[in-house]
Amino acid sequence: METIRITGGRPLRGTLAVQGSKNAVLPILAATAAIPGRFLLRNCPAIRDVTVTLALLAGLGLRTTMEHGLVTVDSRGPLGSASDPALAGKLRSSVLLLGALLARLGEAEIPLPGGCVLGKRPLDLHLRGLETLGVRVCPENGRLLCRGRPEGGTVILPYPSVGATENLMLAALGATGPVCLIGAAQEPEIRDLAAFLTDCGADITGAGTPCIRIRPAPLHGAVHRILPDRMEAATWLCAAAATGGDLTLTNLLPDQLRPVIDVLRRAGCEITESQTSLSLRAGSLQAPGAVVTGPYPAFPTDAQATVMAALLRASGVTLFQETVFSNRFRHIPALRAMGARIETTGDLARVRGVSALHGAVVTATDLRGGAAMVIAALAAQGESQIHDAWHLDRGYGDFILRLRALGAEAHST
Ligand code: EPZ
Repeated sequence: METIRITGGRPLRGTLAVQGSKNAVLPILAATAAIPGRFLLRNCPAIRDVTVTLALLAGLGLRTTMEHGLVTVDSRGPLGSASDPALAGKLRSSVLLLGALLARLGEAEIPLPGGCVLGKRPLDLHLRGLETLGVRVCPENGRLLCRGRPEGGTVILPYPSVGATENLMLAALGATGPVCLIGAAQEPEIRDLAAFLTDCGADITGAGTPCIRIRPAPLHGAVHRILPDRMEAATWLCAAAATGGDLTLTNLLPDQLRPVIDVLRRAGCEITESQTSLSLRAGSLQAPGAVVTGPYPAFPTDAQATVMAALLRASGVTLFQETVFSNRFRHIPALRAMGARIETTGDLARVRGVSALHGAVVTATDLRGGAAMVIAALAAQGESQIHDAWHLDRGYGDFILRLRALGAEAHST
């Protein structure tokens, strides 16, 4: 999608099944390069980050197919150790191929990865961790060359980086001894990766806690169903809340979205939930108190922009503090262009509710920032255009179709 055109002011109503999780499927796809075998992955989202990752894997010599949410990977043949720079440059999660290829081949070469720009996104935690496991890391004109089969050992992560935890879990699959990660990330996507690897024969304990232990074990192919995408779910809930809508989501795990549900409830939304579904009815909204992002189980940074968009017309002042990324308020100028009242100081944003928003022409800055602009446009009076809408293709499948199925007046070019 290049541009999304929305005429706002209509409540979103209906029922939607949440797609498979982008942030669960990407590390699992990388993991297939670590393990010779055949894999069948169900509930895969039809999003660009998945198609780019499949092309990366094919470039390394894996055979992949994707149809109707079903992905097959055959990694039994010989593999290359260097990923395609043009493709890897599009995707920060391509860095996970480092761990997978080191486990499989004892060497890996990737370009410094790309992906959405959320401020400085170093790789020091990944690289220091690999060096602790005896890997020689040599950055060389825009590429990362890594040599040496990982050894057993204990890696202490000073910050619970999701990607570094996943990369080190994948490297540990080929280690010569047990690996212990202390200070590991605890996101549900880490648990889903561990569940997949366990299905492949891996000996992993502690996933979902700060201490993960991986012991060497013979590995093989597996069948796995990808976890529901809690961030896509948050996006739809925020769109319903912002437009006074009435939405039921199926195929999701509300417990994994607890902080977002709590904020929307405190803001005045009526939310009922079962184990795998959730219904939201939006009333007039009021400021829910401070929203402070942090590593799981804190409020998720990926929902900061979309929840902010949902609260632009909530009466009172909502204070947001973004503690995970150094530059994740890039969506705020566009929200202001639609009439939002937001002041920022450093990692703080103060949102003062306004009675109405108006349409504007804006440009998406990143995946979740672009989603926030869509939500504000849905709540605004009049027409909005959101350029660079391709950002949303990275993480939202069939986005316009699903918006229109819920009653939105939305078109894309
Ligand atoms: C993952 O990114 C997600 N991406 C992000 O989702 C998510 O926002 C993030 O985790 C936090 O939950 C995928 O899973 C594909 P981090 P990742 O390493 O792994 C710093 C989305 O919208 N850091 O946990 O890159 C880093 O700069 C995307 O779906 C270092 O300093 O996140 C950041 O400030 C956006 N050194 C913080 O840690 C490192 O070596 C969290 O980063 C690595 C990270």
